[in-house]
Amino acid sequence: MEFDRALRAVAGVVQASRASPAEGIPENSIGEHQRVHAAALMRVNHVGEVCAQALYQGQALTARDPSARQALEKAAREEEDHLAWSAQRIRELGGRPSLLNPLWYAGALAIGAAAGALGDRWNLAFLAETERQVEAHLTGHLEALPQDDRRTRAVVEAMRADEARHRQTALGLGAAELPEPVRRAMRLASKVMTSVAYRV
Ligand SMILES: [Fe+2]
Ligand SMILES: [Fe+2]
Repeated sequence: MEFDRALRAVAGVVQASRASPAEGIPENSIGEHQRVHAAALMRVNHVGEVCAQALYQGQALTARDPSARQALEKAAREEEDHLAWSAQRIRELGGRPSLLNPLWYAGALAIGAAAGALGDRWNLAFLAETERQVEAHLTGHLEALPQDDRRTRAVVEAMRADEARHRQTALGLGAAELPEPVRRAMRLASKVMTSVAYRV
């Protein structure tokens, strides 16, 4: 079951439970250069969502409190939507997902399980900080994406709104505050991930 989930995440065959925010928005013609850039940015976001699958899976495996587990499962379902939406948008833009997805997944699962082993409070702290960084990262993408690419922008905006809620959920469940060196290490790791995934 969990293994199945991992496979689907890595292979990118996930069914969204909510329609893509891009639905109904006309496809504007953007230049070739812009299109390739947008596809690469969406590949980065897709990798982020592959990692989110692994993190939430790690969380669900280790969360002790039932209400926490329920809230995490709801967020995990929304992350599946993100995964499906970003994969779809990559295809529409003529790009392809990261070749390193199995690697990203394995790394995130290991980190998620390690955070989980420290107990719910730290588990949630890690999750809250991840969501905060993803939200900031998506804000950056909204600045970098072509203004005319309204379909991509709609997907990124909707994801960003969800991530902000996920963070609030984690905080509401009693997330601890991560020490600054840990946050810095996380920022560094995500920087490496995003610059590699932009290309590969
Ligand atoms: Fe997400
Ligand atoms: Fe999220």
